[in-house]
Amino acid sequence: MSTALITGASGGIGKAFAEELAAQNYNLVLVARSENKLNELAKQLQQKFQVKVDVIAKDLTEIGTTNAVFDFTIQKELTIDLLINNAGFGDYGDFAETDEERQIKMIQLNILALVDLTHKYLPLMRERRSGSIINVSSIAAFQPMPYLSVYSASKAFVRNFSQALWAENRKYGIRVLVSCPGPTETEFFTEAKFPPTLANKTNQISTPEEVVQETLKALERGDSTVVIGGLSTHFITKVAGFVPRETLLNLLEKQFKA
Ligand SMILES: NC(=O)c1ccc[n+]([C@@H]2O[C@H](COP(=O)([O-])OP(=O)(O)OC[C@H]3O[C@@H](n4cnc5c(N)ncnc54)[C@H](OP(=O)(O)O)[C@@H]3O)[C@@H](O)[C@H]2O)c1
Repeated sequence: MSTALITGASGGIGKAFAEELAAQNYNLVLVARSENKLNELAKQLQQKFQVKVDVIAKDLTEIGTTNAVFDFTIQKELTIDLLINNAGFGDYGDFAETDEERQIKMIQLNILALVDLTHKYLPLMRERRSGSIINVSSIAAFQPMPYLSVYSASKAFVRNFSQALWAENRKYGIRVLVSCPGPTETEFFTEAKFPPTLANKTNQISTPEEVVQETLKALERGDSTVVIGGLSTHFITKVAGFVPRETLLNLLEKQFKA
């Protein structure tokens, strides 16, 4: 039986990954801060699918947490066949006026924890000549986004980082995929304090289950990148390459201003 480690598994896309992978007979290691939610999910999945589920309730923005996650899996002699770096959040606002600590925590979660966990598990996958890594980015990775400046930059980092690793690791039989969902029905917009006027403008919203299905299909195909969403989502990812940068930025600034 294979084992998947999923960060941000207590809700949204991460929880949908856990449910789908348990149904596919994966054992799971679930990471997030909300211990009760993780334990409840673990109980449900164990009962329904007879899989083994371990829970690590930790804040991945805190120094040393990624070591604790890694040490836990080593001590339990768990082989991580699939690493899903999914935990992440955004923070809407004019950068100069945002809370500095929250911006730094965003970088710690969206970038540092993801790089660190990848760096811990990838060498073990290389030794075994097998394993897969899914890093959850966003369509925000395809262009700078005024009022989501750190978030979009963090997701661009995840996209470039993951695509480079895809190229480096194919020859070892390891799959690395960056998943770039468009707007998805989760707690993301509430967590990011998105103004309701903007959140309501968002159409063609995917379900977390659709994101998971499309992502796992792309992993199966061996793709480096998958964009998930409706026509407008796919259009956004293409347009940035054709429109002059300042024109694009002016348009986006108007579109994303509250
Ligand atoms: N929803 C969208 O429209 C959308 C679109 C594109 C990309 N994404 C990306 O998809 C990923 C999943 O987000 P989501 O939409 O499912 O949002 P969500 O419903 O807010 O879920 C975020 C998950 O991350 C966990 N998390 C947050 N901070 C954490 C921390 N400090 N340490 C450990 N875990 C933490 C949360 O659990 P706890 O609160 O229990 O810690 C939760 O399980 C994110 O990387 C996001 O950027 C989302």
